[in-house]
Amino acid sequence: MMKEHVLVSACLLGEKCRFDGESRPSDAVRRLAARLGGCVVPVCPETAGGLARPRPPAERRGARVVAADGADVTGAFAAGARKTLDRAREHGARLAILKAKSPSCGTGRIYDGSFSGTLTAGDGLAAELLKKEGLAVVDEEKVAYCEPSVEHPVAIMLGSGMGKLAESVKVVRRIPYADIEGFPADALPVEGHRFEVLVGTIGGVPVIVYPGRIHLYQGYTELEVTALVRHAHRLGCRDVVFSCATGGVDPSLKPGTIGLLTDHINLTGRNPLAHRAAGSMVETPFVSMDQTYSPYLASFARAAAADEGIELDEGVYAGLLGPTYETPAEVAALRVLGARYVGMSAVCEVIMARALGMEVMGLTLVTNTAGAGHLSHEEVLEVAACASDRVARVLTGMLERLGAAEA
Ligand code: HPA
Repeated sequence: MMKEHVLVSACLLGEKCRFDGESRPSDAVRRLAARLGGCVVPVCPETAGGLARPRPPAERRGARVVAADGADVTGAFAAGARKTLDRAREHGARLAILKAKSPSCGTGRIYDGSFSGTLTAGDGLAAELLKKEGLAVVDEEKVAYCEPSVEHPVAIMLGSGMGKLAESVKVVRRIPYADIEGFPADALPVEGHRFEVLVGTIGGVPVIVYPGRIHLYQGYTELEVTALVRHAHRLGCRDVVFSCATGGVDPSLKPGTIGLLTDHINLTGRNPLAHRAAGSMVETPFVSMDQTYSPYLASFARAAAADEGIELDEGVYAGLLGPTYETPAEVAALRVLGARYVGMSAVCEVIMARALGMEVMGLTLVTNTAGAGHLSHEEVLEVAACASDRVARVLTGMLERLGAAEA
């Protein structure tokens, strides 16, 4: 495995560097570190900032960091954060796994400065700097949540012509789509799809592969097209990877380019949560769509592609209803909107996955330049088939990094 460096809080690896002189080892982080081999760079912003050990606990209060004894320790925390950023730059790291909730390492949620154990939204000083630098920053809880296991396999939903990955599944069980609750009984696979779930492993990582899907443009409803996602969730999946064929909105994108979805624009006019039956399926329909495409999963896809020598593009996906391809005027409009790829699937499924608390990764294969001359579905399938092997290699490498191998 190539050396794509990852910063990891040293206390999560067992180093006794916390304020109380203790560590907070995380089994999931240690297993990940073992998989990543020599790529792990242990960091402790507080040690780097010259803070003594043991010392009173500290919490972030607005822009400052204060200790429980009232001392203002902002300077040392800020210095340590800058040194941690220097380490990230030195190693070219794009992922950091940092201790949850701390005033230096916490990401998303930190202690609120009242020393009462109350949490508030925010980042620790080091996490904040690393995020500004563009790193994906996650905590040990996210690593544990995303770690695949037999109880929590990775769901993989393959798009048109991208069935190659299905060939590398060591299958232990097959489930006909017809047996899936909410999946339309009359649905037939379009060419390039097979309607049978494969439960098994890829490289020892537990997976559930859905080698085909149905589309809104075939006349199915938002709830029908998302039945597979609910099925994966019911079977325990927490991570879900979508692959789809798209047209390149940027004319410089060559057919055969593989792209990582960083965000989407839902232009289907549909939403699976705007449905009377949705209430019984999800906790709340008011789902935050911030960071819909998991930076954590994306970091493994980037590392896998780099390792395989496969160029990985990235950008925003515009999901349209279809089934017609776009007019040149529509493609010009999509460009203005900030879309890089355009397709006719996945957005409803991604929304459902987020509503169910799943971590999402999206991988696309650009099969054509959108809105540029005549295009047939057969041509799309043909390009997809040619690149299917490269898509499979990126996905396999991503799983290898994310997942625990079978004992
Ligand atoms: N437009 C929409 N969906 C697509 C395209 C396209 O050009 N190519 C493959 N899927």
